[in-house]
Amino acid sequence: MSELYLQPNEDSLPMRQSQDYARDKLTILRGYVHRFVTSMRDKRWRALFFIDLMAGPGKNKFEPSGAVMLGSPLIALTAQYSFTHYRFVEIDPHYADALNKRVSASERRDAVKVIKGNCNEVVDKIVEEIRALDKPYIPDSWHCLSLAFLDPEGLELNWETVRNLGQMKRMDLIINFSTSGFTRNVEQLIEKETSTRIDSFFGTPEWKDVYRKVADKDGSHVRREMLDFYKKRLAALGYTIHPEERTFHNRNNTQIYTLIFASKHDLGNDFWSGAIQEVSQPKLL
Ligand SMILES: C[S@@+](CC[C@H](N)C(=O)[O-])C[C@H]1O[C@@H](n2cnc3c(N)ncnc32)[C@H](O)[C@@H]1O
Repeated sequence: MSELYLQPNEDSLPMRQSQDYARDKLTILRGYVHRFVTSMRDKRWRALFFIDLMAGPGKNKFEPSGAVMLGSPLIALTAQYSFTHYRFVEIDPHYADALNKRVSASERRDAVKVIKGNCNEVVDKIVEEIRALDKPYIPDSWHCLSLAFLDPEGLELNWETVRNLGQMKRMDLIINFSTSGFTRNVEQLIEKETSTRIDSFFGTPEWKDVYRKVADKDGSHVRREMLDFYKKRLAALGYTIHPEERTFHNRNNTQIYTLIFASKHDLGNDFWSGAIQEVSQPKLL
């Protein structure tokens, strides 16, 4: 079976059951990774990191078709050209074990660490590793260049985690902003006085003021405001958020999430524009 581990086929290991709309998300990631690593591989970066904080088991099975597609960690691992370091984090032990097995079939396995745990707790270790590599002065060698893919199902990604990554000099971020995660939880949590999951997600209780101003407006308006608030927080970390984003809907045409790209330099912008042209979902209203 191991010869199938890196192929978009059944291989008897666990897969994530995914909805069709996740295909485009993965297509965008694949397009971005391809452009990024093809263009950056021959430069003087002392390391190229691919960081996947919510990695899943490495394969997705789509409903209702049953089609199988590689998940985000294996998309990066099987790209034509290689990153020098892959750091995959997954909280579900069965998924993490399945991912580990799949990774073991890759010639690049020595460059990979699959970390079983909560990304909000282990992100420091990854950041320290990059910092240690960046520390010594090495003539003609640039600092590490990293791409982080942050793909929660809901609000599991703490702001503090994003902020930690954002302290790195060259850390591009592709973030899945779960609008459905917010709308699912907001009514229940808005009146709570103790700190809530939404506070951790935005890194501040100020989201409540933003929300209260628009709460009586239609759903798409609320989602727009909350996403813009999140983008402002990213901008305050020094990021420029690419104006083109992609919003995904389920079969009932409900907005599920929006994929955004944040970077501190121009290099990634062309890659992102190219990658999102490959899919054609409309922008969030
Ligand atoms: C949307 S899925 C990711 C799918 C994957 N990126 C892909 O494209 O194939 C989110 C994953 O994050 C995992 N997860 C949820 N909370 C987490 C946390 N705090 N730390 C690490 N992984 C987490 C879930 O078990 C799930 O596998």
